[in-house]
Amino acid sequence: MKKFIPTQAATAALLFATAAAQAGEVEVLHWWTSGGEAKAATALKATLLAQGHSWKDFAVAGGGGDSAMTVLKSRVVSGNAPAAAQIKGPSLQEWAREGVLTPMDEVAKAGKWDEILPGPVADIMKYKGHYIAAPVNVHRVNWLWANPEALKKAGAKLPSNWDEFFVAAEALKKAGIVPVAHGGQNWQDFTTFEAVALGEGGVDFYKKALVQLDPATLNGPTMEKVLSTFKRIKTYTDKNAPGRDWNLATAMVIKGEAGMQIMGDWAKGEFVAAGKVPGKDFICTTTPGSAKAFTFNIDSFALFKLKNEANIKAQRDLAVAIMSPEFQELFNLNKGSIPVRLNMKMDKFDDCAKTSSADFVSTAKSGGLVPSIAHGMAVGAAAEGAIKDVVSQFWNSDKMTAKEAQAKIAAAAKTK
Ligand code: BGC
Repeated sequence: MKKFIPTQAATAALLFATAAAQAGEVEVLHWWTSGGEAKAATALKATLLAQGHSWKDFAVAGGGGDSAMTVLKSRVVSGNAPAAAQIKGPSLQEWAREGVLTPMDEVAKAGKWDEILPGPVADIMKYKGHYIAAPVNVHRVNWLWANPEALKKAGAKLPSNWDEFFVAAEALKKAGIVPVAHGGQNWQDFTTFEAVALGEGGVDFYKKALVQLDPATLNGPTMEKVLSTFKRIKTYTDKNAPGRDWNLATAMVIKGEAGMQIMGDWAKGEFVAAGKVPGKDFICTTTPGSAKAFTFNIDSFALFKLKNEANIKAQRDLAVAIMSPEFQELFNLNKGSIPVRLNMKMDKFDDCAKTSSADFVSTAKSGGLVPSIAHGMAVGAAAEGAIKDVVSQFWNSDKMTAKEAQAKIAAAAKTK
């Protein structure tokens, strides 16, 4: 009898046919639409395509993701959830409670997620002990970005505390350079606010006031001081700040129109995408007074329950791919963040990322690692939204005093 020996071509055809039969589509909701963000999103897409699946892009523009979350809600309510969505922090628990997310225990077990993720990160990704999301990175939020040429022109020094910050801001203003590039959107206002709370109030104050939402701390004298300092920053922003997108604010620093920006390290993705070199064309330093602290913001993808088998397979493959060292490296080189996976080599990363990586580890030990409220890492969505609104009202109002703002924040913190 003649034996059947498959030729290479026949094997390839067979493999292709099997892959094609199992190929599914993954619709992914995210808000990565700026230059650096889009490059990172492309890395995610390429990872999925490499496995023979197809990618349906569901990008909802709007920094910080507020618009994306609104659109996601309406899609899920109408029974038409995407396969995966960028959801973060306590919101993951809120979505899991609705019963719409799919547990990923099999994938997590096979990939040893409990071993390769830092414990506190794994906890955020789990609901009642089951993994319901896969993290892609760790963003540090307490960064100050500066244009060294602009500082030089103004004779200004890179600030390490808030007093020095205002000295530098004043010098930039005198030199005709916008001192602080800002976008007046409530998540950007809050990114600035939480930087002041951390740098001026310290780690313990930050935790008590903004994580535990302790009424006495929210109503206390440190909070009043923090609010006053925060408001003073506004005098160093330009008149076109209201409504400006964060990446346009970063572009002002890139071009030297502005001297500094307070923003998480997705801003680095913009500098890098514009061909700029850290340490030479731009500087990253921790926000004033926060060198020993690390405000973390972790991007993660939650997977929604699906019915189509091929799409479920594609969705699982996405979760596996997200945690691979190759993806974590490529994605984070573009995104400005650092890999969330432990024990990754950092040799391809720049000095900002290396500092971030070392500080993530050291602050986790010292207690200086704190969640970003502006980026949905600590407080439930309702209280977070209410507090953010008050902080922005205070920023925009000519009349509201710091004391009045405090009382309103303490009330907003009770929102359920
Ligand atoms: C997200 C980042 C994103 C940034 C600006 C943050 O909340 O975590 O991934 O780049 O918003 O849109």
